[in-house]
Amino acid sequence: MPLFPEIKEDFSLHSFNTFHIDSIARYFTEVNSIENLKEFIASGKLNENPFLVLGGGSNLLFTGNFKGIVVHIINKGIEIINRTDDSVIVKAAAGENWHEFVTYCVNQGFGGLENLSLIPGNVGSCPIQNIGAYGVEVKDSILSVEAIDIQSGELLAFSKEECRFGYRDSIFKRDLKGKFAICSVTFELKLNPVVHLEYGAIKQELSAMEIGNPTIADISKAVCAIRHSKLPDPKLLGNAGSFFKNPTVNQKIAEKLTETFPRIVSYPLGNEKVKLAAGWLIEQCGWKGFRDGDAGVHENQSLVLVNYGNATGSNILTLAHRIQNSVYERFGVKLEMEVNVI
Ligand code: FAD
Ligand code: EPU
Repeated sequence: MPLFPEIKEDFSLHSFNTFHIDSIARYFTEVNSIENLKEFIASGKLNENPFLVLGGGSNLLFTGNFKGIVVHIINKGIEIINRTDDSVIVKAAAGENWHEFVTYCVNQGFGGLENLSLIPGNVGSCPIQNIGAYGVEVKDSILSVEAIDIQSGELLAFSKEECRFGYRDSIFKRDLKGKFAICSVTFELKLNPVVHLEYGAIKQELSAMEIGNPTIADISKAVCAIRHSKLPDPKLLGNAGSFFKNPTVNQKIAEKLTETFPRIVSYPLGNEKVKLAAGWLIEQCGWKGFRDGDAGVHENQSLVLVNYGNATGSNILTLAHRIQNSVYERFGVKLEMEVNVI
C-alpha cells in the first residue's frame, strides 16, 4: 500500500523557491492537514532522512541538491475564534498565502497587518523571522503559534512570549530550529485600528495618492505601491528579499562611523544601540547593480541579491561572502545573512 501522503522522488524545487535555484530534492511531499502531518511523522520517514519544512520558498537559498525529504506545508483555513467590540482573534492555517490572508483581514476591517502587505510567503513562516516592514513587525499582532514536534508528533501551542521574537528573529530560528513544523498562527487584530504612518515613504505615497485620513485599506494600497517600485518581483527576477539583516552596533561605534562617513544611514534604537542601513553600506562598497554571470546585486536595492536566470545557489553564496568581506574591510561591520542557506 502506498504511503500517505504521496512521496515524490528526485523532485525539482525550481518553482518552489523565489530565487529559482534548480535544486533537486531526493524526496518531496505535501501535507494538507495536521492529521496528514502527524501520520507522516508516525511513519518514521522523517527520522530516516534529513528534512526541510517548506512554505513559499521566499526566504531560502538552496546551495546544492537536497538529499533528504522536503515537506511542503499546504494546509488551508481561516477561522474567527472570538470577537469583542475592539478586537478579533483570527486563526490562520500555515499553508495560507500571507498576502491573501492580509488582504482578507483588510477587507474585513481587521487592522494590524496592513503594513505587511505583499510580503511573499505563507502564514506558517511569518513567526519564524518575525516578518517586518514599513514600521510594523508581525509579533505585534501574534497571540500564539501552534506547531508539531517533528520527533514526537505532539501538537504544542507557543504563546507570543515563548516565541521570543526579535528583529528578524524568533525561537524557531534558534533553539527550536528544524524541530517544529508550524501548523497555524493566531492573531489578535484591531477593529478600531490605529494606523502606522511612521515610515516616511508611506506618508509620501499617501500624499501622492491625495489621501489625508487613511484607512487600513489605503495603507495596504500605499505599501503595495512602494514595494512594487522598490523591490524586484520574484516572478520576473529571482530573489529572496533582503539577503542580509540591517546590523545593530553600539552607539559609540555608530558615532565613530558617522565621524568618518557623515552620510551613513542609521536609526537610533534607544538603548545605546544603533541600527545601520545595510543597503547603504553595500552600495558604498560599489556593489549596487553588480553582476557576475547570473548572480547579481539589484540595481535599485543593494540589500537584495538576484538570480538573472541560471545562477546556482553557490554562485549567490559566493557573491554574498564577497559582499560581507568588503563591508567588513571598509566599515568593520559584520553583515549577518537573513536568508536561510540550505
Ligand atoms: P520559506 O522560504 O519557505 O521558509 C523560510 C524558513 O522557514 C525556512 O527555514 C523553512 O524551513 C522555515 N519554514 C517555513 N514554513 C515553516 C513551517 N510551517 N514550520 C516550520 N518552519 C517553516 N521578509 C520580511 O520580513 N519583510 C519584508 O519586507 C520582506 N520582503 C520580501 C520581498 C521579497 C521580494 C521576497 C522574495 C522576500 C521578502 N521577505 C521579507 C522574506 C520572506 O518573504 C519572508 O521571510 C517570509 O516569511 C518567508 O515565507 P515562506 O513561506 O516563503 O518561507
Ligand atoms: N539604502 C541605500 N542603498 C541601497 C538600499 C538602501 O543607501 O541600495 C539606504 C537608503 O538610504 C534607505 C535605507 O537604506 O533610506 C533603508 O532602505 P529601505 O527603506 O529600502 O529598507 P531596508 O532597510 O533596505 C528593510 C527590510 C525590508 C523591508 C523594508 C521596508 C531588513 C533586512 N530589510 O529594508 O525587508 O521591506 O525595510 O520596511 O530589515 C526582507 O526582510 O526581506 C525585506 C525586504
